[in-house]
Amino acid sequence: MSEASPSLSSPEDTYMLPTYHKLNLVASKGSGVYLYDVKGMRYLDFMAAYGVAILGHCHPDVVEAIKSQAGRLISCHGSLYNVARMEFLETLSRVAPAGLSSFFLCNSGAEAIEAAMKFSRKATGRKRFIAFNGGYHGKTFGALSITSTERYRQPFEPLIEPITFAEYNNTEGLEFLPWSEAAAVFIEPVQGEAGIKIPTQDFMTKVAKLSRENGALLVVDEIQSGLGRTGKMWAHEHFGITPDIMTIAKGIAGGVPFGVTLVNQDVASHITQGDHSTTFGGNPLACAAATAVLSVIQNRKLVERAWNLGRLFSEELKALSDFRIVKETRSIGLMDCNG
Ligand SMILES: Cc1ncc(COP(=O)(O)O)c(C=O)c1O
Repeated sequence: MSEASPSLSSPEDTYMLPTYHKLNLVASKGSGVYLYDVKGMRYLDFMAAYGVAILGHCHPDVVEAIKSQAGRLISCHGSLYNVARMEFLETLSRVAPAGLSSFFLCNSGAEAIEAAMKFSRKATGRKRFIAFNGGYHGKTFGALSITSTERYRQPFEPLIEPITFAEYNNTEGLEFLPWSEAAAVFIEPVQGEAGIKIPTQDFMTKVAKLSRENGALLVVDEIQSGLGRTGKMWAHEHFGITPDIMTIAKGIAGGVPFGVTLVNQDVASHITQGDHSTTFGGNPLACAAATAVLSVIQNRKLVERAWNLGRLFSEELKALSDFRIVKETRSIGLMDCNG
């Protein structure tokens, strides 16, 4: 191994701001479900880069797409046309939820949320956002403003206002929210960071109904739950609801930074030139990788596979609970957790 071995005085500790809790592992390479450290030790990677490695590490089709695109063109601003971007847009349009047919391309989950916040204010002319306790939407100012966790928020206040936080999965409480003032309600169809919280059908139906009846846009944050992980391409499909906006990121480009905000035609009709932009959004490298990811998901039928494997996992985990090792199992497809 040519890399330096892990040491207590890593440049990462010296030079990076201490914003991450670090594990004592210097990752050197990844292949499928395995991650290897610099000494060649192999780890079964359940962390999966926080939900990014949905095809495993370094899937050959994604590696090939990146290599081939890197030799052709890496950067191309959105003010020019580009072949890799066109291919990605057509591929995404084939798997996007019905009605969400206009896309803003960016570079991360939080950025996709920021765009959704701006677009919903512009489309409705309203200011307020409704979001849910336990939800996580990112740590940029806008995304943090609709993220309820106090310890993330408090040092950076005042955040964007007005925001109303509501209790996730409390169907009765929904009646009392300020729907008619809200530009949008932001919801994870399955709460990820909160520990895989799966809402009831009644709750999701009512969120969709009240938002529609009161002119508040329904924004589903599928950054963690999307791309087949729950056994449907998009987690909100389990509940039969129709979002106005959807955000995706994480595994969409196999680890190359990428986020997308998908909007319906009504929202799109309010967005004009200059409303939003980002230098790297939709760059050819990320687009080529993302086309490869979506193709693998479809060609290998990974959505169905996630559903079937998820059932197997949850049955086996439930069996373990008989031995008092597992207290509770929460799962939907392969989005699961136990404690
Ligand atoms: C549901 C959800 N939304 C938004 C984000 C923010 O994404 P990013 O870390 O790419 O900014 C995350 C990240 O974990 C997430 O899980």
